[in-house]
Amino acid sequence: MGIAVRWLGMNSDHPDICDYEGSNYQERFWGSGARRYEDLVEAIALRRLLPAKGRKLLEIGAGAGRNTRRYGGFEKIVLLDYARSQLEQAQLHLGKSERYIYVVADAYHLPFAHASFDAATMIRTLHHMVDPRAALQEVRGILGRGGIFVLEYANKRNLKAIARWLLSKQQWNPFAIDSVEFAPLNFNFHPRALRNWLQESDFEVSRQLTVSHFRLNLLKRLVPLALLVALDSVIQWSGGMVQLTPSVFLQAEVLSGPSYQEEAFWRCPVCTSENFEDLDEGLHCQGCGRTWSLRDGIYDFKHPIRE
Ligand SMILES: C[S@@+](CC[C@H](N)C(=O)[O-])C[C@H]1O[C@@H](n2cnc3c(N)ncnc32)[C@H](O)[C@@H]1O
Repeated sequence: MGIAVRWLGMNSDHPDICDYEGSNYQERFWGSGARRYEDLVEAIALRRLLPAKGRKLLEIGAGAGRNTRRYGGFEKIVLLDYARSQLEQAQLHLGKSERYIYVVADAYHLPFAHASFDAATMIRTLHHMVDPRAALQEVRGILGRGGIFVLEYANKRNLKAIARWLLSKQQWNPFAIDSVEFAPLNFNFHPRALRNWLQESDFEVSRQLTVSHFRLNLLKRLVPLALLVALDSVIQWSGGMVQLTPSVFLQAEVLSGPSYQEEAFWRCPVCTSENFEDLDEGLHCQGCGRTWSLRDGIYDFKHPIRE
């Protein structure tokens, strides 16, 4: 993965982006089966936190669509990712059905109208955000009142980090509220910081689940997968009291603002106009005159075909 080149919607102080273009992440990270345990316990957490049904769900940082089939109760699912190649992989395994809309765009500049979704998810993506607050504010904007946001984040205050810190094997303090960049463009966050940012963005955190309690290679080798998953599933509920796992899932609800607008959809990420003309080649923004392409079933809000 590299750092993304700037696109026209970015000004010079736009946060850097962790660019997955051309990456074989899905195959390399998940394909070998070594993370089957993590995948299964994440599926359980998602099932617990997502409403059983809904209208339009936005999956931010959808990647190759590993989780998309888990949003079965929603009528429309929009998969958004900065990397077109990730969405091409998602399209290969999910297909070109009307139910899925593939969108190349930046999480800091979501190309959607206010209150145009009733649910959103962001799984294993916030940890790439230099400015997580800005990203969370964007999510807040596209959700209607009563909308549900399911977020997974990497927790710096996890047992392994605490043990390493106590043994002086790690310099950063897992109890300090600031974020830690453990590798370029990879951040771990403190649970309290996350809750503060969500609150500032007018979300109310309604539930928290701790996930991947047994993310240790030795345990994963010695204990049968089904048993590890069952134990994790039971302990996930303790996340309502304390969060000490490397991964935390939470559900946040929007309590104010306009309710979900069924008809609302696009918003230009550059000029913010919500008026578009539908063309065969893409979407023509009536506000700034740019045309955003639709090619092979994938909308592209990074590179306009006409300005
Ligand atoms: C670790 S992958 C996770 C993919 C998927 N959510 C999963 O759990 O399998 C992170 C994804 O976030 C995307 N991403 C990172 N920064 C982004 C941004 N600023 N806007 C949109 N997507 C972004 C990457 O392209 C990548 O596909």
